[in-house]
Amino acid sequence: MTHKFVAPALVAAVALAALVAQAAVPTALKSVDVTLPESTVALPDGPNVAVVRDNCVGCHSPEMILYQPTLPKPAWEAEVNKMRNVYKAPLDPKDIPAIVEYLTAVKGPK
Ligand code: HEC
Repeated sequence: MTHKFVAPALVAAVALAALVAQAAVPTALKSVDVTLPESTVALPDGPNVAVVRDNCVGCHSPEMILYQPTLPKPAWEAEVNKMRNVYKAPLDPKDIPAIVEYLTAVKGPK
């Protein structure tokens, strides 16, 4: 009869010992500093530049946009939709045409 209680007690004791051993390991958290490169490149003026600034440079710098090759309008449209659908850019769909107009004006075929 007594050994019915011994087994669970033993399991509990081993589990407790493991917990105590884990708590004894020092978990020292250290702060680190990371200096990210600063972007000095601004979006050039163009139609609806403010809409683009508001929607497109929160996740990455303007260079990400400006250093692309010139693209035709449908390609920019696809790019903006990719930002929205794949990378989850919080874009209001009604701003998309204005953004695409800017991108095509600034980085479209001349
Ligand atoms: C939610 C964050 C987010 C927002 C907002 C965002 N992007 Fe991006 N963008 C990304 C990520 C992530 C990548 C991929 C980065 C990488 O490949 O290193 C990217 C890459 C790009 C690229 C490089 C080509 C490519 O497809 O990878 C372009 C161009 C671009 N974004 C344009 C835009 C434009 C224009 C907007 C505004 C409509 C915008 N992004 C808004 C996250 C975002």
